[in-house]
Amino acid sequence: MMPRKIKENVFLMGAVDWNRRLFDSLIPLPDGTSYNAYLIKGSKKTALLDTVDPPLIDVLLSQLDSFEKIDFIVSHHAEQDHSGSILRVLEKYPNAKVITSLKGKGMIVNHLCVPEEKVITVEDGEELSLGDKTLKFIYSPWVHWPETMLTYLKEEKILFTCDFFGSHIATTDMYVTDEGQVYEAAKRYFAEIMMPFRNIIKRNIEKISEYEIGMIAPSHGPIYDKPEFIINAYKDWISDTPKNVVVLPYISMHGSTEKMVQYLVDGLTKRGVKVHLFDLAVTDIGKLAIALVDAATIVIGTPTVHVGPHPMVVYATKLANVLRPKAKFASVVASYGWGSKAIEQIAEMIPNLKVEILEPILVKGYPREDDFKALDNLADVIASKHKENDFH
Ligand code: FEO
Repeated sequence: MMPRKIKENVFLMGAVDWNRRLFDSLIPLPDGTSYNAYLIKGSKKTALLDTVDPPLIDVLLSQLDSFEKIDFIVSHHAEQDHSGSILRVLEKYPNAKVITSLKGKGMIVNHLCVPEEKVITVEDGEELSLGDKTLKFIYSPWVHWPETMLTYLKEEKILFTCDFFGSHIATTDMYVTDEGQVYEAAKRYFAEIMMPFRNIIKRNIEKISEYEIGMIAPSHGPIYDKPEFIINAYKDWISDTPKNVVVLPYISMHGSTEKMVQYLVDGLTKRGVKVHLFDLAVTDIGKLAIALVDAATIVIGTPTVHVGPHPMVVYATKLANVLRPKAKFASVVASYGWGSKAIEQIAEMIPNLKVEILEPILVKGYPREDDFKALDNLADVIASKHKENDFH
């Protein structure tokens, strides 16, 4: 990819990673991703905002061949995929300085071995003139590390947001063309890395509301030339009110848990509650994270393995706990052969969830009439709790 002009002397740079399928050895990337960098050429100085993930540095270096001089490399965020190639860019432009937040400095020095003397820190709200273009740096902590910041290009009203508002999509589109596709990818991204910081994100969104924003240029996925699309989506995702939705991750080994969860899905559906069912043996964990963004209730289905829940259920439960979704209610439907502490162990795994626990159901062997009555009762309770709380 060659540099692509966004505005006069403002270019989209960086690399599209079509084949990447996993991030941080944890997060699935079904649609690949991109590492966007941006180059802003002022009448006096030139700045590069972010770099690329190190394996794709040659793409960025070849784009930079068209630019004789870089004065500043702005590091919005110290993670490898944006700042991991700073040293290589510094080799090409040895006189360049790296601009970052106060917390960012320690991180790029410690994690990425950027020489301390190359780094200039900026305060929240500080401006840097490139001549006829001005960069204003806006601290935006916890989107999604403590050091993260944004850059506002005043003259063009472009907000460069790095991970914030990003989406993992590999595409040749410079701007959002398919809002449905980008909505899901951005929601997946929010769910996986931003959701634990919902309350701080609220403050960051309030902070940027004072700026006139014509365009949001993230460092993953396409640029938003209609920024209200993604800002409104974020406002919905960070709101405290969940939707009339149950998320039901489960595993079944011999069919008992499967029978229970399928019965519960039917019962909830009959009562007007939407359900997202995830068989953890085959599910994309990112899809589960997306569903957790809106869920009012989480019900976990598990058989018993050596007294406790199935290990895949342990993984999903711990993940839900660290993602801190806004769910208000939780329950467990479990089965066992001769002894079980599955329910107690799951309850201990979710201290971060501020949920009311609804009467769990534990079944010995295959579910029978009384068990189905208990499942009907659980469906009744969930439906009425959602109704009482006016969840739509
Ligand atoms: Fe895209 Fe937090 O790195």
